[in-house]
Amino acid sequence: MHLITPLLAVVAGFAASVAAQDAPIQPQLTLLYSMDAHLGERFSLGPIPTGEERIVIPIVGGSFTGPKLNGTVLNLGADWRLTDAQGIVRPDARYNIRTNDGTNIYVQTEGFPLPDGRTMLRGKFETGSNGTYAWMNDVVGVGVLKRNGTSAVRIEMWHATPGA
Ligand SMILES: *[C@@H]1O[C@H](CO)[C@@H](O)[C@H](O)[C@H]1NC(C)=O
Ligand SMILES: *[C@@H]1O[C@H](CO)[C@@H](O)[C@H](O)[C@H]1NC(C)=O
Ligand SMILES: *[C@@H]1O[C@H](CO)[C@@H](O)[C@H](O)[C@H]1NC(C)=O
Repeated sequence: MHLITPLLAVVAGFAASVAAQDAPIQPQLTLLYSMDAHLGERFSLGPIPTGEERIVIPIVGGSFTGPKLNGTVLNLGADWRLTDAQGIVRPDARYNIRTNDGTNIYVQTEGFPLPDGRTMLRGKFETGSNGTYAWMNDVVGVGVLKRNGTSAVRIEMWHATPGA
């Protein structure tokens, strides 16, 4: 009783202060791009120290389009996906894209499979800090990947920004 009463008071106080001043603000998501990425022939490294299997899926081309950037997927990169100790396939993709006005952007995504066959992705980007797309360096990306046979994927990548 002596312990629980002050604890309840603290919890109630916290809840009240959250409700009064610190209510969570939902971030906004805006579309960065919708991408069709073409895949090459996959190969396996077999079991590796950190998991059941490492599979390499080359990323060989494609295109993307969005309100603030359009362009092509370069034939340069792969998904070095890991089948982990629980048998869960975890993508680990690194590749490059080029905007139609010539800016090179490095893309890195990782994620996990959803029960419906799609894959959830976290995305981050690197590009010249002196260029038009410097803002991409600070993008927090949220992506959803959908398989299209074994030779292509459709990725919708969203840009998360704080709500107001
Ligand atoms: C990219 O293409 C889309 C659709 O074709 C267009 O609406 C958009 O303005 C383009 N954006 C840029 C930055 O070129
Ligand atoms: C950014 O810097 C690089 C290296 O100095 C240069 O080649 C490039 O032209 C610069 N880009 C812009 C848009 O100023
Ligand atoms: C699936 O791939 C085919 C052939 O590359 C393409 O025509 C089609 O638009 C793709 N569909 C999706 C949803 O990506």
